[in-house]
Amino acid sequence: MPKILDISAHKIVNSRGNYTIQTKVTLDNGVEAVACVPEGASKGKNEAISFPVPQALEVINTAINELLKDEDIENQERIDNLMLTMDGTSNKRNLGGNSILSVSLACARSASLTKGLPLYFYLAQIFDDAKRFHEKIINEKKFPTPIFNIINGGVHSANRLSFQEFMVIPNKMDFENSYDAGVTIYQELKEILKMNNMGVGLGDEGGFAPEGLNILKAFELLKQASQKNFKVGSDIMFGSDVASNSFYHNKEYYINESNLKLDNKNMVNFYLTLLKKYPIVYLEDPFEEQDLKGWQALNESVSDIMISGDDLTVTNMKLLDSALKLGLLNTVIVKPNQIGSLTETLGFIKLAQKYKVKTVISHRSGDTAEDSFISDLAVGVASDYIKAGAPARGERVAKYNRILDIFYELRSM
Ligand code: PGA
Ligand code: ZN
Repeated sequence: MPKILDISAHKIVNSRGNYTIQTKVTLDNGVEAVACVPEGASKGKNEAISFPVPQALEVINTAINELLKDEDIENQERIDNLMLTMDGTSNKRNLGGNSILSVSLACARSASLTKGLPLYFYLAQIFDDAKRFHEKIINEKKFPTPIFNIINGGVHSANRLSFQEFMVIPNKMDFENSYDAGVTIYQELKEILKMNNMGVGLGDEGGFAPEGLNILKAFELLKQASQKNFKVGSDIMFGSDVASNSFYHNKEYYINESNLKLDNKNMVNFYLTLLKKYPIVYLEDPFEEQDLKGWQALNESVSDIMISGDDLTVTNMKLLDSALKLGLLNTVIVKPNQIGSLTETLGFIKLAQKYKVKTVISHRSGDTAEDSFISDLAVGVASDYIKAGAPARGERVAKYNRILDIFYELRSM
């Protein structure tokens, strides 16, 4: 069995111009692999602690390097558990979630290389002996559906739009056609913005971030951009990552661009009005993470839309369990760096799938073009969705392009 010879990390720069870490794992058979960790801007309060870069590097290059020397690379669970035990806290405040995750992912990647398997298939094997992969990806040809965030607001832009992400979601198309739809609509939206003398500058996730929008205008733009080439409401559906933590103060939601200040009851009504006007099928973090009454009220008022937890559940099994008991959601975001290890991420996905909760494997707003681990993960566990921003900017398209690669690779099987 190949064993870990050395683990080392150094800093690199991410898509937001901030430093992050890149970790390399070298095995005693000469195989080596690297992994990079992304960075969020709108974070849940219960996410794993991310160490400042110099501190994370120190932890990886010394404590974790010593801890994992000579470990069997094919035992991912043991590798992760050794780090979790050494850390000994619920939020990874002793070793840092970013330190642990980068090692965890680099180990999985080097194990896949040493076994001569594509990463997605190695992940499928350690997930559930590749059962779901065979059923969904190979037999049903059901690849994760991409969710394209093509208008950016919230903390990902400076345009004062309160909702963070306005998304188009291809419906009942294969991955290639879905990607094509995302690209076509993105280019059409750019033309519309130019024609209206609006800015075509981009936000953190590659979506356009013009000034002067409000929520209705943003959805109207999605509609205009989509309807030229697609049937809105059947080919293309809409969604939003509201990321409402960022505009919730003193129990009210401040939608400043429309001079609105709404309590959770009025917020439910606001959503119901939007749902009547537009084919919205996905709402992420529609309420602040502690405003559970708001979550429950929305869940009781609608039946056929995805209500998705991100800041609420932070890829944490315990939080998903209690969200389910309280009836708050039917969909979850999966971000490996919210929890800080691969093993825990896989456990979270398994729990979601067990309860028929839809999964959306997700990038972060500060990401790297060098790493598309989440794409292999999305295919390996046959996630329902993947969200990686707009179909533009290197660090975003790296994720979608990798799935396209896999799609072509597996098409003939
Ligand atoms: P973040 O946002 O990566 O900035 O936290 C992405 C999201 O909320 O989905
Ligand atoms: Zn989110």
